[in-house]
Amino acid sequence: MIVTLHFLALLSSTVAWGRGGVIGEGRNGTAGGGGDRCTCEAFLPSSTFPVRDLVVVEQTAEEILHKLDLEMGKLEEYEIKMTAYVEKILKLTVEIEEMEKHSSDYNDADFADMKVEIKQVEALIKELQASISGSVTVFESLRVESTAMDEALTRLEKTYDKNWVLVTRREYVKIQLQLETCERRHDELFNPNIGSCAHTGIIRVGKPIVSHLNAHLNAAYKYGGWGKDSKPVPDRESMYWYSGYTSASIVDVRFYTNYQNLILRNHFQHHNLHSSWIGTGNNYIIRDNTLYYQINNPFGLAKLNFTTMKYESRVIAGVSSRFSYPNSINQIFDFAADETGLWVTYSTTESGGRMVIAKIDEASFGVEDEWQTSVYKPGVSNAFMVCGVFYAVRTVDIQTEELFYMYDTNTKQDSYISVQFDRFQDKFSNLDYNPTDQKLYMYNDGYYVKYHLWFNHTVEATAEPSLVLISDKIL
Ligand SMILES: *[C@@H]1O[C@H](CO)[C@@H](O)[C@H](O)[C@H]1NC(C)=O
Ligand SMILES: *[C@@H]1O[C@H](CO)[C@@H](O)[C@H](O)[C@H]1NC(C)=O
Ligand SMILES: *[C@@H]1O[C@H](CO)[C@@H](O)[C@H](O)[C@H]1NC(C)=O
Repeated sequence: MIVTLHFLALLSSTVAWGRGGVIGEGRNGTAGGGGDRCTCEAFLPSSTFPVRDLVVVEQTAEEILHKLDLEMGKLEEYEIKMTAYVEKILKLTVEIEEMEKHSSDYNDADFADMKVEIKQVEALIKELQASISGSVTVFESLRVESTAMDEALTRLEKTYDKNWVLVTRREYVKIQLQLETCERRHDELFNPNIGSCAHTGIIRVGKPIVSHLNAHLNAAYKYGGWGKDSKPVPDRESMYWYSGYTSASIVDVRFYTNYQNLILRNHFQHHNLHSSWIGTGNNYIIRDNTLYYQINNPFGLAKLNFTTMKYESRVIAGVSSRFSYPNSINQIFDFAADETGLWVTYSTTESGGRMVIAKIDEASFGVEDEWQTSVYKPGVSNAFMVCGVFYAVRTVDIQTEELFYMYDTNTKQDSYISVQFDRFQDKFSNLDYNPTDQKLYMYNDGYYVKYHLWFNHTVEATAEPSLVLISDKIL
């Protein structure tokens, strides 16, 4: 029986960067220049794709493999027993021949003993026969299960024949890396303004770029976050981090040297938080190799510097623990980082649940300044900061989110906007902007998802590097 583990990638055609070598080595790419466009051939995640069916198929595959292992283990045992019995029978045969040759030397008791021994071997062989036929039954049912699984997979393949391609793990990783490279080149060519705030805000959010199910390979790890350090320390510019858990808490963080290792789930560091440092909520971030997160005891903010393992906590007077984002409990403090520094948002009793923005001084870990917005936190699904401007997001429908409110801390002006974008899965616990690549990172029901952003000044100069990759859970 062959149990193949499949990987799904929805490809509109082939994935390539630099179509026809356009953005190949030594060539210049320019936007809108016809053939000179950066194309990361892409595909859209269809919300109708039965990811759940696929997960079921894969879980079945895993179960079958597990059962098979168990049965193989038993078979080995049977083989050992069988060898022992054969030896015993040979020995008995020799003894019987001996007895026949010299029958006068033996008495009735000796024959009786011999009969008992033969009966014992007989009983053992019967037992073994029963076990083996049990195993045969198990093998038969495994065969039936795996056939059913194969059929289910074939059905999935047929249904999505046109757009979905089943790829192997190696191909999958290769495609992921090609997309990442394409995206990075695209950013180099078309987003020369990373770090600049010479724009008037976000005007478009791209399609969800779905990289992966989390490193726990477990869709039950719905609460978490992932992304890049927003102010990386030297030699960690390409580092990614991930933390996930089955409830709205943070207990550990994994670091990956680069995107490839994130995909391969090869972390180079795994920090388990000291039991008295365990955090709650999921709107934490990593900045300057430091984790900023929410704690319950005391109810407030925590800062854990992974360079020194120094831990600090702060309490902000007046913050109410009543106001969380509606999708998940405990999301009281939402950390954010942008071109201008470190921020945290929350609601106070005094504000009646409307969100407050606070600027945090990174060195002293104290609040520098506060701004009162007019959005009521239970109506906001998440929030982030870009260039000192606060953006609030709300859920429109089963697959749509909307940036609906912005507050500029520079001018103290707010406004209602409408920039909609798609979610990949139902709920998300962490959404943050990263100023190092101007992308949004979302932790969406266990999946790592990111979004490309368009700002008001860049609109005419940008070709969309629309690229999406969906992976299943098994690597
Ligand atoms: C790329 O652009 C630069 C600056 O415009 C130019 O000097 C260079 O020759 C171009 N390279 C190629 C391969 O077209
Ligand atoms: C973390 O510790 C390092 C080493 O002392 C220090 O240089 C860095 O500024 C600290 N980071 C933060 C955010 O406090
Ligand atoms: C872009 O910014 C300009 C200048 O502030 C403004 O007039 C215009 O309405 C903005 N466009 C969009 C789509 O927001």
